[in-house]
Amino acid sequence: MLKVEHIDAYYDKICALHDISLEIGDDDIISIIGSNGAGKSTLMNAISGIVYGKNGRITFNGKNITNQKPYITTRDGIIQVPEGREIFPKMTVLENLEMGSYSIRRTRQGMNDKIEEMYELFPKLRDRKSQKAGSLSGGEQQMVAIARGLMADPKLLMLDEPSLGLAPVIVDDVFHIIERVNKEKKIPILLVEQNAFMALEVSSRCYVLENGRVVIEGSSEELSKSDRIVKAYLGG
Ligand SMILES: Nc1ncnc2c1ncn2[C@@H]1O[C@H](COP(=O)(O)OP(=O)(O)O)[C@@H](O)[C@H]1O
Ligand SMILES: [Mg+2]
Repeated sequence: MLKVEHIDAYYDKICALHDISLEIGDDDIISIIGSNGAGKSTLMNAISGIVYGKNGRITFNGKNITNQKPYITTRDGIIQVPEGREIFPKMTVLENLEMGSYSIRRTRQGMNDKIEEMYELFPKLRDRKSQKAGSLSGGEQQMVAIARGLMADPKLLMLDEPSLGLAPVIVDDVFHIIERVNKEKKIPILLVEQNAFMALEVSSRCYVLENGRVVIEGSSEELSKSDRIVKAYLGG
């Protein structure tokens, strides 16, 4: 459904992505791992149109979306949950969810049903719905960020480091939710992570980014056994 072919990206004259190609299928969770500064966020931003891609081509369900304005890419159904969550801290949880739906025309009933669907997926958010989002724990804020993304009815959900800054037990919860979103809602997911262990566990395929290049790609199961990956990313 999403195809990235030979994309480069620059910040001024500094090349942040070199000749990146990747593909996401209809039911996939695909992960991109790599250390800090590898280019993971830049790649996600190139897909969503926030960063300008040079050369190459990005297509989504056959439509050329290369360097398309971000709001049009959102309208096409590619929804990004950014690094650092970027929820609205002074708004309540419920208001944050409603904001996620701004690009979609819904009836009041449709909105209520969608919010109810989010509370079923994230029961904690129901308890916290009237609380200011900024007062929640890191894990709960990440759930708000993911739920807000889902409110836009994504055809592809892109998550940038959802585990960043969370305690290990909370990371498990977040990854469990990512799996459920993929399986129950049938939404393909592009997952960017420094937490290679979790990323390899939930994804079917993985791309390893180093210095803006894809240096290894393959099935996550195979990669999690590869010496190079174990040494560099799994602390082996
Ligand atoms: N807005 C920016 N201006 C200039 N350089 C940037 C900018 N954003 C990122 N970079 C640089 O691009 C490279 C890739 O960054 P990034 O995509 O954020 O990596 P990651 O998400 O893997 O940590 C890094 O060298 C980073 O310093
Ligand atoms: Mg990043």
